[in-house]
Amino acid sequence: MGAEASRHKVEMGVRYINVTWEPHIGLPDSGGCMGSIARAAAKALLLLGALSAGLPAQAEVLARYVVMGPGGAASARVIASGATCPTIVVDGRRRAMQVRAKAETLAQRPTSSKPELSKPSAFPVTTCEAAIPQGAVRAVVAGRALPLRHGRVDRIVVVGDTGCRLKASDSAYQRCNDPKAYPFATVAARAAAWKPDLIVHVGDYEYRENPCPEATDGCRGSPWGYGWDAWNADFFTPGAPLLAAAPLVLVRGNHENCARAGQGWFRMLDASPLTAGHDCNDAANDLVGDYSAPYAVPLGGREQIVVMDLAIAGNKPLKPGDPRRAQFRSAYEDLKALSAKSGMTFMATHKPTLGFTAEDVGGKLTLLPGNQAMQSAFAAADPSLFPPGVDVLLSGHVHLWQQVSFASAHPTQFIAGFSGTQEDVVPIPETLPADATPAPGALVDHFSSWVDGFGYMTLERAGRDRWDVKVWNLEGVVANHCRIAGRRSVCDRPQVH
Ligand SMILES: [Fe+2]
Repeated sequence: MGAEASRHKVEMGVRYINVTWEPHIGLPDSGGCMGSIARAAAKALLLLGALSAGLPAQAEVLARYVVMGPGGAASARVIASGATCPTIVVDGRRRAMQVRAKAETLAQRPTSSKPELSKPSAFPVTTCEAAIPQGAVRAVVAGRALPLRHGRVDRIVVVGDTGCRLKASDSAYQRCNDPKAYPFATVAARAAAWKPDLIVHVGDYEYRENPCPEATDGCRGSPWGYGWDAWNADFFTPGAPLLAAAPLVLVRGNHENCARAGQGWFRMLDASPLTAGHDCNDAANDLVGDYSAPYAVPLGGREQIVVMDLAIAGNKPLKPGDPRRAQFRSAYEDLKALSAKSGMTFMATHKPTLGFTAEDVGGKLTLLPGNQAMQSAFAAADPSLFPPGVDVLLSGHVHLWQQVSFASAHPTQFIAGFSGTQEDVVPIPETLPADATPAPGALVDHFSSWVDGFGYMTLERAGRDRWDVKVWNLEGVVANHCRIAGRRSVCDRPQVH
């Protein structure tokens, strides 16, 4: 080894110590002076050993974030470039992070794309996790504090549908390299600057499914498939400001179904422990993998968010023999039980049950109702579709912003699928036809929409069962302002132009 190479190795070693983390060596933090000396010596030996053994000198934290799970339990997550996990220091106590998913390349599985447009999902990174004890004030990984929730949640950011669409079957190639055409990074920076207490992502994170054609400038060189590189380009890199700003409530979208980016969903974002068979790795287990039970995240007052994983719902009513019907019925019963325990429930589910979609068929505009699969399963349990304790539905999937409030006993619906993915641009009328309804028996009272505009939505506590809703554009200007009172809402502008 020459002098130059030798110096390089030393510099890399310094970088390892300063920029990344100290390996966890399983020694208690408390103890006397001799204990400290022993620990320091052991760590130094371990570092030297790691370097001389050729262990990853550049191991570093690629992403760090906090996922809120059942009951509001916070799970610290780290994506690390090496095979080991860093330690986490919680209120001064150092502890190990556990490996949630080791670095590996998963064998190619059937996907929603043709085999020649699919590939094995490579995750050359380790997902690490650690439960944050309730009441913890400060948690630090590799020198940076994680965003923890302190007290009541008063300020919530809602984003949805944030990836860059590369989909061969639709010949849809969004200009991922153009921040104006794919503005999730701008949305994330603006929304983080609003200083939320909590971030809700209503699903669809990973859209770079197929390769960008060589002749297509706007997405040239983009990673594709369902591995770490595509996830990183679509979510972790552009979304970094959001990940640093507040804990995350993450809803699964249909892009995270098992036949799409489900493997990454379970490895990195799902709130519950990762278990074999509930990981989308084997298509034989997809019925199980495509559903998770609902859970509630309390907001610290009398409110809560109930997270529903029903993204596998298609657009048609579920037939009696369809196994998803039993899953959705079970989800309804869970929702009913959870909502009965709280004063106000926001239900977060990817596909809107009570919103509208516009379709242009041969020049004729048609308004389509809310998701038929969910409606069919829920209506079998309850003709009014939702338990009485559910007040607000937060959804995405339709790539626009929309609000619907009802004169009937239905919860108000918000759609925030406008945070980065190529927009749905079929115009929606400012005033709905008199008989327009998203579900049988649902009488629309107030309706507002914004088609072909990127942005994010915020919810700010404004009193008992009252929340201020603001809809923001990419310049950080309020495009619309709505007020929620229980299960009703009304907006200043019926349509944003
Ligand atoms: Fe979707």
